[in-house]
Amino acid sequence: MSFSQKYQQLPTVDKDAGEQESLQRKDPRKRRFPLFVIAIIVIMCASLPCIRMIRSRGFWAACHASPQRHSSTLAKLPSHYTLPSGDKIPSVALGVWQASKGEVGNAVTTALAAGYRHIDGAWIYRNEEEVGQAIKTSSVPREELWLTSKLWNTFHAPEDIEAALDQSLSMLGTEYLDLYLIHWPIAFKKEGNNILDEDLTADPYPTWQKLEELVDKGKIRNIGISNFNIRRIQNLTANKLKYQPAVNQVELNFWNPQPELLKWSKENGLLLEAYSPLGSNQQVGNSLSVPEVKNVACKLGITPAQVIISWSVQRGTIVLPKSVTASRIVENLEVFEIPQEDFELLEKAAASHPPQRVVNPSMGWKLPFDVFDGQ
Ligand SMILES: NC(=O)c1ccc[n+]([C@@H]2O[C@H](COP(=O)([O-])OP(=O)(O)OC[C@H]3O[C@@H](n4cnc5c(N)ncnc54)[C@H](OP(=O)(O)O)[C@@H]3O)[C@@H](O)[C@H]2O)c1
Repeated sequence: MSFSQKYQQLPTVDKDAGEQESLQRKDPRKRRFPLFVIAIIVIMCASLPCIRMIRSRGFWAACHASPQRHSSTLAKLPSHYTLPSGDKIPSVALGVWQASKGEVGNAVTTALAAGYRHIDGAWIYRNEEEVGQAIKTSSVPREELWLTSKLWNTFHAPEDIEAALDQSLSMLGTEYLDLYLIHWPIAFKKEGNNILDEDLTADPYPTWQKLEELVDKGKIRNIGISNFNIRRIQNLTANKLKYQPAVNQVELNFWNPQPELLKWSKENGLLLEAYSPLGSNQQVGNSLSVPEVKNVACKLGITPAQVIISWSVQRGTIVLPKSVTASRIVENLEVFEIPQEDFELLEKAAASHPPQRVVNPSMGWKLPFDVFDGQ
């Protein structure tokens, strides 16, 4: 049977429709039209990652070569880590330091709508009330949220801790925190301006014991530390703790990757949280322009910020990018598995220069030592 004979045997629904169809088949321009539409759709889909990158980084900073992969082909990274308490902490949080009043509420609203379930805040950020309002007006049930706050240096004395915690709870509009951290291993006297309390700085155990008590009271689900180096962690854990620190929140980014602390923490079962992952306000531009970061972004069809945030999760840490810009908030939540050779390349590039911190208040607080000394 010839092709034209076979073709004539195809069933037709009704006569007019069949005539219409055969007319269309006879017109080659009309036959090509659906193919043309499909081609346009394919081209649009393929260029989406580039459009996203151009939107977030500007046209001239975008890929020189077209991305070799589309992010939808990349595996996702773990969305949660499990803490010793059994609680699951989301691996990406919205950081709200330096998110000023009047903008932090919108940032939290955008983040919750985008799917964030983890907000990293602190009493000293002075925006917990607006964060709490945004949470209240969202439809996200409290039990789906992970709220972190931090005990400020002035409240380390055991008798001051519960009142400081209660203030954060009340401003956030919640009965409990998922995580409460000792913000710095530095205690200030309550009176005066940043006057060092030498005893509580040298020995944070009394502070820790009070935090343990507040866990038992149900006001905090997990307790942890922040800005503690190995020596200071060991100084605390040498005591007979009822609850081990659940996390240590420290600066981790391309400029200060701290591979030794990361290795030690993994060996000792202590989860790290990466703060200032993009290098904070001062270094974010430089971080996103690192050639290795840009190359991996182009190769994977994701943005440089997504490369850095994904790298952080792939290193086995929680990551806390801050943004008050709606498109960036959405962008920062999407993390992807980076192929092993690219991951190693980033790790090597980050370790190939002398470490440089963006956050170190030692001089500003006029401490007689550097808070990070004696690693
Ligand atoms: N425990 C501690 O002592 C401590 C210390 C520092 C930070 N932290 C925590 O870590 C969080 C993050 O650290 P951080 O705020 O220092 O710095 P970061 O997250 O490294 O950087 C924030 C800066 O990057 C910009 N940005 C964010 N996403 C971007 C994107 N996709 N593309 C381009 N630019 C982008 C932000 O701009 P816009 O906001 O204008 O979009 C902002 O200028 C803090 O908010 C806080 O929760 C804790």
